Amino acid sequence: MKKLYAVIGNPIAHSMSPLMHNDLFQHYGIDAYYHAFAITKEQLADAIKGFRAMNISGFNVTVPHKVAIIPLLDDIDLLARSIGAVNTVVNENGRLVGYNTDGSGYVQGLLTELSNLKNKKVLVIGAGGAARAIYFTLAYEGVTHIDLTNRTIAKAESLVKECPYEVQSNVLELKEAEEQLEHYDIIIQTTSIGMSPHTECKVLSLHNLKESAFVSDIVYNPLETLLLRQAREKGARTQNGIQMFVHQGALAFEKWTNVMPDSNRMTTKVLKQLGGTKC
Ligand code: ATR
Repeated sequence: MKKLYAVIGNPIAHSMSPLMHNDLFQHYGIDAYYHAFAITKEQLADAIKGFRAMNISGFNVTVPHKVAIIPLLDDIDLLARSIGAVNTVVNENGRLVGYNTDGSGYVQGLLTELSNLKNKKVLVIGAGGAARAIYFTLAYEGVTHIDLTNRTIAKAESLVKECPYEVQSNVLELKEAEEQLEHYDIIIQTTSIGMSPHTECKVLSLHNLKESAFVSDIVYNPLETLLLRQAREKGARTQNGIQMFVHQGALAFEKWTNVMPDSNRMTTKVLKQLGGTKC
């Protein structure tokens, strides 16, 4: 019987996950179908009950359910538990098990451009769920120095305190981070600032960016945010959020099917949908 996979979120109409996963199922000859369901916060518990009744094989979880899903599952993997958010659920013999592939997907995407992260000085901008997944995973991967800057300092301080992996870290005000930008090799923008339709916004000024820096923005709509454009104009290398999106999806697909899919194929598919050619 055809297996069912899904993504739940709200809003979800513009999700590119169905396109990406259905193409992979077809490409690898897997008899399965992936569907996007718009589920409100109030409907979440019922939706999960429904998924259990239908014996769904797996699903992705996106905004606003990544945290609220946790008590509704049977087990949570260690990294997802420490991040405090789940984006991928696998039906393991009737038990719904939650994972987080956002942070690992981000790091895999970064490694397509940079060969070694360990001794780099990293600045993460933001302290929400995405920042948490990325910061914890970088620390887990052995990156030794990760500073954090956020509009609300207390949130950044809690994030650093709650990280279970050892890492050197300073928490900075956004202004302070702007002034000290030249000290960072990798700058990672994890907020939604600059996302369409507010494409004229950016989280901080890049006046002090060094030319050899690498600037990454998890936003992929537009493909080049104002932050990335200005970084590129200063001579820095840049990466948008497509690689994180593709690799988090690839890792979810692998958990569901034991097949590690071709990320280049996925990137091409997603870029075509977004009407662009460049990552
Ligand atoms: P997600 O889970 O997708 O990361 P989130 O938890 O809502 O989203 O976090 C959003 C991040 O964007 C936070 O770091 C937030 O800063 P605060 O902690 O100060 O709220 C940041 N953010 C959102 N809008 C912002 C703005 N206008 N200026 C600066 N930071 C902003």
